[in-house]
Amino acid sequence: MQLFASCAQGTETALRDELFELRFEGVRAARGGVHFTGSRREAARACLWSRVAMRVLEPVAEFECDSEDALYAGVAEIDLSEVLTPRHTLSVSAACRTSRLTHTQYIAQRTKDAIVDRQRESQGARSDVDRKDPDVHVFVHLVRDRATLYLDHAGAPLHLRGYRVAAGEAPLKETLAAAVLRLSGFDPELGVLDPMCGSGTFLIEAALWAAGRAPGILRERFGFERWASYDASEQQAMRELREGAKGDPARAQAPCLGSDVDPEVLEIAAKNAARAGVRVELSKLSIAEARPAFAAGLMLANPPYGERLDADRELPRKLARLIDRFPDHRVGILLSEDQGLGRTRRKPHLFSLFNGDLPCTLRTYQPIARKE
Ligand SMILES: C[S@@+](CC[C@H](N)C(=O)[O-])C[C@H]1O[C@@H](n2cnc3c(N)ncnc32)[C@H](O)[C@@H]1O
Repeated sequence: MQLFASCAQGTETALRDELFELRFEGVRAARGGVHFTGSRREAARACLWSRVAMRVLEPVAEFECDSEDALYAGVAEIDLSEVLTPRHTLSVSAACRTSRLTHTQYIAQRTKDAIVDRQRESQGARSDVDRKDPDVHVFVHLVRDRATLYLDHAGAPLHLRGYRVAAGEAPLKETLAAAVLRLSGFDPELGVLDPMCGSGTFLIEAALWAAGRAPGILRERFGFERWASYDASEQQAMRELREGAKGDPARAQAPCLGSDVDPEVLEIAAKNAARAGVRVELSKLSIAEARPAFAAGLMLANPPYGERLDADRELPRKLARLIDRFPDHRVGILLSEDQGLGRTRRKPHLFSLFNGDLPCTLRTYQPIARKE
């Protein structure tokens, strides 16, 4: 079966490398995600183990779709009864580009109409719509007047890991934090330090990764676990997958250190880490006070964006000095596209990516090679 794991734009190579390492087959990066192949069990494994993917999608049909009628007729042909019965609730979402149909809400609405009309005709009853917490989430994607209808294995998007008890201001999505760790060259054997850690997303994702703990281990369930097709043998397979996904708490963990000026967000970070079952060390410091605390590893920061930047006009220069204080470390700094940074001794490698709708640049720096 062809499958598609979606991710934040700009993080496709991180997801490709991750799925490759997780030994999925047929891994190929595309815009907005990565194609791979496998059974439904492999889709379940991706939901549990991918740190970077937002959704895991199974295409069920593809058809020409240059009008509203073509959309309705195309969807009405599709038999979803294996996963969706009238007892199951449904929601449909849509995305489109370079197509005659442009209104995503309308596309979703007509797709839903075609699905439930078919149910009524063939089964005499229809699914209720539940936009917030459906049993079955269907995703329809139009590109150049071709529609693909997908079943969403994840259900609630995969960044909702289940460990975020509370959030500070502008927390990063967990999936984006994991992608940034990977793009910055995080080595789980070495430590990580985040001197603007907020609610601790980088640190917790790094610690989960280093502990070999699956990012989805705290999720109560994934979307596919509510489908009509989810039978006893799949339940058993899922129990086994979860059993092997807890990681090794006895494994020596490289340091995951965080600091921030705001004591309230540090409390939140501590609670989130405890819920995630990982060890992080936190202290109240400004970036001017942040220093390397271990020989080599990764220093990562996600400084505040936007209006709050006006409050600290010195921040670009402070950040440059911070980077220069970590010559033996890899460094990753995630800034919005229009944010400046002072001159640094090292030249960065740049990645363009999106934090939600906000275009961002991740600047990554290699450690400076020392002469013996
Ligand atoms: C965008 S938030 C980081 C969010 C974090 N990545 C998360 O996922 O929760 C930026 C953080 O930088 C902190 N901060 C702002 N100025 C600082 C400074 N001069 N020194 C240390 N921390 C600072 C803020 O308190 C805030 O928690």
